[in-house]
Amino acid sequence: MPQDSAGSGVIGVVGAGTMGVGIAQCLVEAGHRVVTVDPEDAARATAPGRLRDGIRLARMVREAPAAVPMDRALAAVTWTARLADLAEARFVLDCAPERIPLKERLFRELDEVCPSGAVLATGTSAIPVERLAARTARPERVLGLHFMNPAPMKEAVEVVRGPRTSDETLDTALALLAGIGKKGIVVHDGPGFVSNRVLMLTVNEAATVVQQGTADPATVDRIFQECFGHTMGPLATGDLIGLDTIVDTLYVLLECTGDQRFQPCEGLRALVADGHLGRKSGRGFHRYPARAPR
Ligand SMILES: NC(=O)c1ccc[n+]([C@@H]2O[C@H](COP(=O)([O-])OP(=O)(O)OC[C@H]3O[C@@H](n4cnc5c(N)ncnc54)[C@H](O)[C@@H]3O)[C@@H](O)[C@H]2O)c1
Repeated sequence: MPQDSAGSGVIGVVGAGTMGVGIAQCLVEAGHRVVTVDPEDAARATAPGRLRDGIRLARMVREAPAAVPMDRALAAVTWTARLADLAEARFVLDCAPERIPLKERLFRELDEVCPSGAVLATGTSAIPVERLAARTARPERVLGLHFMNPAPMKEAVEVVRGPRTSDETLDTALALLAGIGKKGIVVHDGPGFVSNRVLMLTVNEAATVVQQGTADPATVDRIFQECFGHTMGPLATGDLIGLDTIVDTLYVLLECTGDQRFQPCEGLRALVADGHLGRKSGRGFHRYPARAPR
């Protein structure tokens, strides 16, 4: 087991979706043991295959040899539906859906289940850390670790320090990140922090531009790529994040700021209502090749 200041022993990940599996991959590749909790049978059924695909892809693009053999990396994750299986976790990362009541309930339950010394980190896109910390009896051990997607490919994590997060918790989290090869960039608490306060407005406006007929999605993205030199346009970024997560995050920002600019536009809501969630469903603003069955 790696010995960083997060301590040896198991790390909990809550949610086996896009972010949960990506973060589990980062952890097992660095030698950690992980318990991943997801109440949805379908998510648990597909998660090991998604993890294997993610590890294969990362190993194809990475030049350095893998530190952990594939079968050991896969075997290092336990998949479960029970939050109670986090009773021995030293550090927990929340990757559950971006809904305020769901995450508030989750943090109350994690506080009951996890050892009193465990750090509870949220991967929320926009919910203020203090709002979740307030549901626990350990607000000093709660912070935000906002990994970007795809987590294994990104070099830095937005680290959100709540008003009551202790120095020790911050140090523990930064050491865990360093141990998985990531830099932490620390910011203060607030709805959407730095990243999504800005990015969500951009995606929403880009969707509005399409809705109003100014340009089609491919053209909107080309403007950002070919005129500004961005790697991806805002609509392809929205598809990568997941349009359901974008809409959920905009609603969180709307609730937490009261600012109507965060009201998700009709075009965005219509795509989600039709099940066009972006890459994960094969279609969003753009179309994506179907995933091979596992
Ligand atoms: N997708 C991104 O690009 C991205 C980037 C950064 C942060 N985030 C944040 O990460 C979190 C997860 O997003 P995602 O894109 O992985 O979502 P997702 O929809 O891909 O996965 C969410 C998973 O949580 C599971 N789940 C549902 N209810 C749960 C519960 N009560 N407890 C535990 N798991 C539950 C679902 O079954 C699903 O597998 C959200 O807070 C989101 O805002 C997402």
